[in-house]
Amino acid sequence: MVHWSKDETDEITSTWKSIDRYLLGAKALARMFKVYPWTTRYFQKLTEFTASSHGVREHAKKVMDALDCAVLHLDDVKSHFTDLSKKHADQLHVDVHSFRLLAKCFVIELAIVRKEKFPPQIQAIWEKYFAVVVDAISRQYH
Ligand code: HEM
Repeated sequence: MVHWSKDETDEITSTWKSIDRYLLGAKALARMFKVYPWTTRYFQKLTEFTASSHGVREHAKKVMDALDCAVLHLDDVKSHFTDLSKKHADQLHVDVHSFRLLAKCFVIELAIVRKEKFPPQIQAIWEKYFAVVVDAISRQYH
């Protein structure tokens, strides 16, 4: 089981409450699509890949609601992500390495939002959070 210190859980839960999560999600997705253009191939339904486009914003809501669930269940993200992992592996056939790419984009977008409130120790907390998420969503790949 992952161990979280009080500082880590405080940072994650308080930041999560204070930011515009859906906007963050749309920006992280749009960044992924721009920096790693091959990731767009999974999203046949989307015609635009910008953070302000309807399709990306709608998809960001789904992703952010899943990440909300991870924030609420930091001690057991794996079991809450079982179905989501199966879906990405067996139905969507998303390359498991893509999860790391999106996670990187999330950390960058958080750094932009937090500005000077994103020193290395805070970055480390978010790197850990997204490593746990990536591990959980990658679990059902075999
Ligand atoms: C932090 C990692 C991620 C989380 C938490 C996440 C979460 C989700 C959620 C909640 C859904 C909706 C599932 C449903 O409707 O049952 C979804 C769908 C989807 N995800 Fe992910 N996802 C992640 C990463 C990725 C990545 C990196 C890709 C591809 C590069 C991807 C591709 C897709 C696709 C193609 C769909 C279906 C979209 C549609 O047609 O509606 N996901 N994801």
